[in-house]
Amino acid sequence: MADKQNTLWGGRFSESTDQFVQEFTASVSFDQRMYAQDIRGSIAHATMLAEVGVLTDAERDAIINGLTEIRDEIERGEFQWSVALEDVHMNIEARLTDRIGITGKKLHTGRSRNDQVATDIRLWLIDHIDLIDSELNRLMQGMLGLADREAATIMPGFTHLQTAQPVTFGHHLLAWFEMLRRDRERLADCRKRANRMPLGSAALAGTTYPINRERTRELLGFDEICQNSLDAVSDRDFAIEFCAMAALCMTHLSRMSEELVLWTSAQFGFINLPDRFCTGSSIMPQKKNPDVPELVRGKTGRVNGHLICLLTLMKSQPLAYNKDNQEDKEPLFDAVDTLLGSLRAFADMVPAIEPNRDVMREAARRGFATATDLADYLVRKGIAFRDAHEIVGKAVGYGVASKKDLSDMTLSELRQFSDEIDNDVFEVLTLEGSVSARDHVGGTAPDQVRAAVVRARQHLS
Ligand code: ARG
Repeated sequence: MADKQNTLWGGRFSESTDQFVQEFTASVSFDQRMYAQDIRGSIAHATMLAEVGVLTDAERDAIINGLTEIRDEIERGEFQWSVALEDVHMNIEARLTDRIGITGKKLHTGRSRNDQVATDIRLWLIDHIDLIDSELNRLMQGMLGLADREAATIMPGFTHLQTAQPVTFGHHLLAWFEMLRRDRERLADCRKRANRMPLGSAALAGTTYPINRERTRELLGFDEICQNSLDAVSDRDFAIEFCAMAALCMTHLSRMSEELVLWTSAQFGFINLPDRFCTGSSIMPQKKNPDVPELVRGKTGRVNGHLICLLTLMKSQPLAYNKDNQEDKEPLFDAVDTLLGSLRAFADMVPAIEPNRDVMREAARRGFATATDLADYLVRKGIAFRDAHEIVGKAVGYGVASKKDLSDMTLSELRQFSDEIDNDVFEVLTLEGSVSARDHVGGTAPDQVRAAVVRARQHLS
């Protein structure tokens, strides 16, 4: 009979695991990231077991001291992770038994790795949701600062990427802000359902020991207890919900990135990004490439992929735990890392955006951005909107042929198209007149942008 390698579950086995199978099924290379949550969970479990009389106080103390020392060992980089011990849970438990002897083997009373891993990953995700929330908040604060500074800066607003109507740069930034505000709501919502404790469900059916799940919940700071043991060990909805939120947030960052890439190009020239967010080319000396937004745009793909990966992982899994579930971690970890890194890069970069106000203004002046304002002016003079549209269309046609913007035409040139046009038309044809006229909640007028910043700041704090 070959050596039974795994002393933690090898009892019923008559030969050791195939070397390759051992490596193939192990998760320790990636799940060791959850060591702190695993130890927190074990300390809470041992504390509760002593309170209900399953462990003595002395056993509990030995376990807690041993686990605390193991945490230090890991943090000093001295812990020897072993693939033969499969995962973070069995590595830590085996080391505990090494250190404190037979008492270490009592820690696993009344629990299973199935409820243990489900608890660890929720604790890990909640910790990281909080880090993500604070980076989101930092980015949103930076965006509001820039929006406030640029509340009256005029740029073209686009539909179909064609100049549509003038807007303020502050207003455009507040559109970005709204996307992130929704992401933050989704993050908080996902946190609620992650914040439920599976521990106590044991392998799938619960346990025969007189456990106090409410006490363990309280010790770990969960909001609630999972209500069904079969569901608790198999549910990974929280990971899917997080990835859905992350994919959408990355999609928003990607849209912002796309605009930053366009705006930094020589063709637009709307903004400069400081050199520290760009890189050069090894062959073209003139180049300054907007690498940070490009990379964020590119990284969106992997997070979208992780969402599909997790949905597909869960599809068709029968209750309760299946080994498939071990595959939840790498996509979730990478989604967290990618989102956190992208938010951090954006939070550093956005407040440092340098707008080229003259270039933006000139771009808005070209392209007949105030054509709608002229039509609205004619409506105020009593002309039906459809007729006004037709009149302005002809004026624009004339402008294209004569290479003149509406605001460059003389009164008599404009009156060729309608004798309702008077000298007061020039107020509405200016860019400032156009943006200031959109003076209601959600409109682009500089005063509205400033008021929206004030409201948003109250919401954030
Ligand atoms: N490493 C496993 C995971 O990540 C832990 C649970 C394993 N449980 C089991 N009965 N094989 O899901």
